[in-house]
Amino acid sequence: MKPKVAEVKGLPYQYRLFGEEVSPAAESRVTPVCFREIVREIPDTNYLTHGLFYYPAKFIPHVPHYCVRRFCSEGGWVIDPFAGSGTVGLEAVLAERNALLIDLNPLLAIYAETKINFRYTDLQAGELLGWLNQLFASQIAFYPQWSNLSYWYPEQVLEVLARYWGWIHAHDPANPYVQVLRAALMRANRRFSLTDHKAPKLFRSKRKLQEVSEWLQRPDWKEEMDQFIIQAALEIMGRLQSLAQVLKTTPCRAIAFAGVDSATVDLTECPRTEAVITSPPYLQAQEYLRTFKLDLFWTGVPEAKVRELMRLEIPYRKAHQPFSTPTYEQVCAQLQREDLKRLMHAYFYYTTRALQNAATTLKSGGHLCVFVGSPTVDGIQVETWRILAEFFAPQGFAFCGVLEDVIQTRQLFRQRKNKNPRGMESEFLLIMRKE
Ligand SMILES: C[S@@+](CC[C@H](N)C(=O)[O-])C[C@H]1O[C@@H](n2cnc3c(N)ncnc32)[C@H](O)[C@@H]1O
Repeated sequence: MKPKVAEVKGLPYQYRLFGEEVSPAAESRVTPVCFREIVREIPDTNYLTHGLFYYPAKFIPHVPHYCVRRFCSEGGWVIDPFAGSGTVGLEAVLAERNALLIDLNPLLAIYAETKINFRYTDLQAGELLGWLNQLFASQIAFYPQWSNLSYWYPEQVLEVLARYWGWIHAHDPANPYVQVLRAALMRANRRFSLTDHKAPKLFRSKRKLQEVSEWLQRPDWKEEMDQFIIQAALEIMGRLQSLAQVLKTTPCRAIAFAGVDSATVDLTECPRTEAVITSPPYLQAQEYLRTFKLDLFWTGVPEAKVRELMRLEIPYRKAHQPFSTPTYEQVCAQLQREDLKRLMHAYFYYTTRALQNAATTLKSGGHLCVFVGSPTVDGIQVETWRILAEFFAPQGFAFCGVLEDVIQTRQLFRQRKNKNPRGMESEFLLIMRKE
């Protein structure tokens, strides 16, 4: 890697970590780091468009910020087979690299288009307000074909959202103002539903039912809803303008494979990449597609399609082929419960398939960078990075090192001194090189 001191589009490039290599000889050595401290040029995790869309368990941008600069040359390509909301893609284009993004979640197409590839610099607040007025006056209704809709929305809210989404579907999705309004409505989808919008999972809480019912009794409830959308749209437009300004001369882009299984998607026609940079789902994972049902339905993904994709989600699908590494076997031997053994099997089988598939795009000498936790399953700690390293080592990948991001441990240590001295487990960046 050549050292760089130049300005990186909007952010000063100021660091070079750990000399040239990350402990290549240290087989079992884990180097503690704190990504938030070493990547100081990132002002906050939501800078620019990182916070545009809600997404649980996002990468902190510091990690891909470090990886794309360290493991990919300018103008090159990186790939993320579990792209989620596109954090890797955004960090790649900000560093003047390109990204191939894959996720089972069809919403990735919208995230990539708006959060990463948006390049319109001349949006005007006055014009946005004009488009908002059109939206609010919409008489075209779009009701998603979804059996359970009234469980999640009171009738009045459903009627309003159906008209607003009807307007979105009747307009050109490439229009920058339509993109701004669509992103604002995606916030309203959650905010004005009966799901607890502060919880990562989709569920109706008593607190939220109470809040919505009180809100609907106020005479100006609709005005409040419109005000929320106006404020969201203005904020989103400001962020998109800043992004477009920062990226106005870069030809770099993200290409999204949205709504596909990263274990099986055909990548043979893709550009060759220099790094796989990714954070797979957690072992005891979030059900992402369930979490995003509201947005999926409003943006027009049919219920049957969502169900079909849910069957492919890691770790909820069954694995039919064997999986084995020494550490994996050790953990399984200690597990008593068959359901947990099945979970482990499904998780590692499909996560490694997805990583292998993404790694077929890697040039030789390219890097595999996987950010994972070490969760505890039935009291037994599962060192995910070690299992992945053992799996990939016999397949022509050299172990370069593991960086342990210790920030969470420290934070929780302070907050939960007596309850759990280790706090939440740290996360680990496994780095391997394709020979
Ligand atoms: C931890 S999240 C990634 C978050 C992402 N790094 C970000 O910053 O937004 C894991 C992702 O894996 C995706 N996923 C789960 N099973 C998958 C599969 N079989 N193929 C592709 N993606 C899958 C989920 O939809 C989820 O977005």
